[in-house]
Amino acid sequence: MELDKNYWQHRYLEGNTPWDIGYTSPPLKDFIDELEDTECRILIPGAGRAYEAVYLHRRGFKQVFVCDWVDEAFDHLRAEVPDFPKEHLLCADFFELDGVFDLILEQTFFCAQSPSLRDSYISKAAYLLRTGGCLVGLLFAQPFEKEGPPFGGTKDEYRLLFSSKFEIIQMEMAKNSILQRSHNELFFKLIKK
Ligand SMILES: C[S@@+](CC[C@H](N)C(=O)[O-])C[C@H]1O[C@@H](n2cnc3c(N)ncnc32)[C@H](O)[C@@H]1O
Repeated sequence: MELDKNYWQHRYLEGNTPWDIGYTSPPLKDFIDELEDTECRILIPGAGRAYEAVYLHRRGFKQVFVCDWVDEAFDHLRAEVPDFPKEHLLCADFFELDGVFDLILEQTFFCAQSPSLRDSYISKAAYLLRTGGCLVGLLFAQPFEKEGPPFGGTKDEYRLLFSSKFEIIQMEMAKNSILQRSHNELFFKLIKK
């Protein structure tokens, strides 16, 4: 099965979006609450309905960009935040993106990719960040028995993969995951080398 744009578009059309929790996940909300520089350029790849972007925008962050190749996914953001800049809605393939960001926020996008694309994801994230920029987010802490997406993994596996391009500042079990992801979600903070 090819996890291409059609695949994801179909999932939205069918309403088959179990990853969508309907709000900013608590570990990411806590992280955002600590951010001070409202001018920093933030990218949310595979943003879907982009609850984090709504939250950031309402907290005064003006350089927030969302990327998803399914345009309909942005309808929620458009409705919730009509003044969200249209040019910050990047309806594109993440792997084709260009730009320079200070921070990339990860939330169930990495796990939506075939594991064969993990190196490409890491290289692309590093390419899009300035030196010293951060990649922050959540990763499933265990492999899944069922064929993905989502595709899980282990902390050791992730550490090995990400350390090629990033310094690992934090990667530990999130303390306030939603119930369904409790004890199966790593919060991580990485700095581009
Ligand atoms: C599992 S969903 C996660 C959505 C959102 N982050 C959330 O947590 O609700 C994965 C999203 O990534 C998008 N996606 C998958 N591959 C992509 C790619 N190569 N470029 C841009 N978006 C992609 C899909 O359209 C989908 O919206």
